[in-house]
Amino acid sequence: MPKITRRNLLRSGLTSGLALSASSVLTRSAWARAEAALAQADMTLPALAPREKLLFDFGWKFQFGNSVDPAKDLGFGLGQGDFAKTGEFDFAKVKFDDSKWRDLNLPHDWAVELPFVHDDVQMSHGYKPVGRRYPESSVGWYRRTFDVPATDAGRRIVIDFDGVFRDVFIWVNGCFIGRNDNGYAPFHFDLTDFLAIGAKNCIVARVDASFGDGWFYEGAGIYRHVWLTKTDPVHLGKFESYARTSVSGNTAAVSLGTVVRNAGTKSSDAKVTWKILDAAGKTVATTDSAQQSIAPDGSATFTAIAKLANPSLWSVQSPNLYSAIVTVESAGKAVDAEQINFGVRTAVFDPDKGFSLNGKSIKIQGTCNHQDHAGVGAALPDRLQYFRLAVLREMGCNAVRTSHNMPTPEWVEACDRLGVMMMCETRQMSSNPEGLAQLEAMVKRYRNSPSIIIWSIGNEEWELQNEDAEQGAKIGATMVRHVHELDPTRVVSAAVNGNNEKGVSEAFDIIGFNYNLAFPDEYHKKNPRRAVYGSETSSAISTRGVYSSDPLRNTVNAYDGVVPWGETAEEWWKFYGTRDWEAGGFAWTGFDYRGEPTPYGWPSVNSQFGIVDMCGYPKDTFFYYKSWWGQGPDKEPVVHLFPHWNWEGREGEPIKIWVYSNLDEVELFVNGVSSGSQKVPHLGHVEWTAKFAPGAIEARGSKDGKVVLSDKRETTSAPVSIKLTVDPIDGRSEIDADGEDIAVLRVEALDKQGRPVPTAGNLIGFKVTGEGKLIGVGNGDPNCQESDKDPKRSLFNGLAQVIVQSTKEPGEIHIEAVKEGWEGAELTPAKLTIKTRKVELRPQVR
Ligand code: GAL
Repeated sequence: MPKITRRNLLRSGLTSGLALSASSVLTRSAWARAEAALAQADMTLPALAPREKLLFDFGWKFQFGNSVDPAKDLGFGLGQGDFAKTGEFDFAKVKFDDSKWRDLNLPHDWAVELPFVHDDVQMSHGYKPVGRRYPESSVGWYRRTFDVPATDAGRRIVIDFDGVFRDVFIWVNGCFIGRNDNGYAPFHFDLTDFLAIGAKNCIVARVDASFGDGWFYEGAGIYRHVWLTKTDPVHLGKFESYARTSVSGNTAAVSLGTVVRNAGTKSSDAKVTWKILDAAGKTVATTDSAQQSIAPDGSATFTAIAKLANPSLWSVQSPNLYSAIVTVESAGKAVDAEQINFGVRTAVFDPDKGFSLNGKSIKIQGTCNHQDHAGVGAALPDRLQYFRLAVLREMGCNAVRTSHNMPTPEWVEACDRLGVMMMCETRQMSSNPEGLAQLEAMVKRYRNSPSIIIWSIGNEEWELQNEDAEQGAKIGATMVRHVHELDPTRVVSAAVNGNNEKGVSEAFDIIGFNYNLAFPDEYHKKNPRRAVYGSETSSAISTRGVYSSDPLRNTVNAYDGVVPWGETAEEWWKFYGTRDWEAGGFAWTGFDYRGEPTPYGWPSVNSQFGIVDMCGYPKDTFFYYKSWWGQGPDKEPVVHLFPHWNWEGREGEPIKIWVYSNLDEVELFVNGVSSGSQKVPHLGHVEWTAKFAPGAIEARGSKDGKVVLSDKRETTSAPVSIKLTVDPIDGRSEIDADGEDIAVLRVEALDKQGRPVPTAGNLIGFKVTGEGKLIGVGNGDPNCQESDKDPKRSLFNGLAQVIVQSTKEPGEIHIEAVKEGWEGAELTPAKLTIKTRKVELRPQVR
């Protein structure tokens, strides 16, 4: 079956407007790429035994504690004697009774489950009652009992947390293990000495989200994956394996390195071998290190070089990945192994020519994004990362900035696999031990990812970035030096909201400007040897499907809303997209996010900066970007007409009509009568004003004098039925029965002619039965305070989203969407079945 792209639809004579309106349906090409990428991810790799890496997400217990009253916090902190002796924490013993605690699986974000509170102090975190003034809902206790089989005797057993928000204490079998005090960096503990072998064990985590880092929503809880890794005493160090590539002619040299630790009691001889596999899993190179002896409790560094002939390069269009199987051998036997993925590519920032990937000039067409999504908050199933990236790819976005924190591993992996470049940012700009530790964790964890082209040491640090910021200059220099040591292959920068002349910027390899279009030209003239890009731009605002700003309703029209410090999409892209020496930039933001409700406060609970809403439904500006950012196979003709044509009660009033297009000319028809044709200005749009009368508006776009694409908006009648489909960006009606995979569903209301009603706001209820459960709902309305978790949601301007997750049992998930409440006309319900197929489960803790 041919790919469903707008071009194919056009060829088959099905131009948009009716069943497919350009504003509401995305093509599937980006998702098809995601599918291919995931198939590649699934390729069978040689067993990495004797190492065992087990997912530790299922079967946890949860209960709220209390941040001020120890009596309501399992007695923790009562009497100041808690840490007096080792092993006396009863709540962390197997026999402790947690039968009344709630059952849940990770990743989990409890903040998204809480009701909203009208408390302006909580505005930036989306009006959720989390923080020091909310002791009852700011501490969460997680408990899990688990088996450690007798066969684990003699192995090292380490627990890995990919990210917990925020400060966490960990106990195992009554013993305090350690703590971690940030919300984004991964951390791990070696549990070996504390575990009972061949018996039940217990782990407890007390997570305290009282403090935060964000002026944006950060969630609360164990919101990323947890793993249990079992290895030989002689094993690879955490995040120590790297593969650095350099290309020369038709060959790539891969410089390989790792650290082996000996946690045993005797010296051990060890050597490391590397097997490099191409994307199809074929071995293309092998190499090994010299042998070394490692003292007990010691470690040693091993290196080697491999050569790849005619390497397949990683690029935005062809994100080719290689993997290296890194194996430690001791006494002729493989004792530990891990797989790292990497790519071969060159990424160069040039002060005169901007950015080039593999020697080809390419503009960074980027977006900044926070990490939360409708329905699930900060706890995203892996598949949702791919979904979100596919949405962004669809508009030609080729880069993301992980503002303002170290990202979730699966977001980075999705970028590697889908060919999206990254500016990877740490949370704390500081050279204090915590700041450097976060930075080091980020660089070591992700330095093999070909998607990453810039390390960012932070964002808008007012005290560190100004002219006389001596502290800034010193902190910046230390951080940059540290990154260069860990990864000599990439540039270091930060997102600076100022002139970049002094302070922290002095140490940067390349210079990023946030907003302030008056600065870059001046800077470039004065500093001709430093490459420049837009680290954060735009901050345009709009509410999806809204065409007049209404301060009483906290909505912003789709045409030209922008905050005073920002630029519209057209303004910033005409600036960065037209200067050869500019590398491009990152628009604030790709997706709407919870918190920072700009430009209005309560009752708005999320931002309106997104080019797509909280669910990933495009706002109109999406098509501005799609028009001008399309490239390679993504380059499709675009004609996008707005607003809708449902203006009942406004008959005879003038309505602003805009079209985004990358064709030569667009002609507008209002109720069948031409309003004239206009040339589309480069990087601009065309617009008309027409008086409203029910009927239709249509835009016909032509290239070389021929109409090639049209878009139409018709006045619909009232909703009579519900439509429930799999979101076209995903398109899968069958998902994995692994307890992790999801289906993202689109909910609409249709009129009696079967047309989606763009203004519908009906409340819809969802019944989910069979082998799946509902894990979240959303509608993209920044002012909606309905629960993200209840099985119902109002449509917002015609759309809502439901996310369902499979169980581990193969079968079917049945979803029924019905009208909720008693008011208004009846709506015919809709039903949808998602199949779930049997798959091999990821190895997991029992
Ligand atoms: C920037 C900041 C972002 C966001 C944005 C809103 O200054 O870096 O995090 O707050 O403003 O326009």
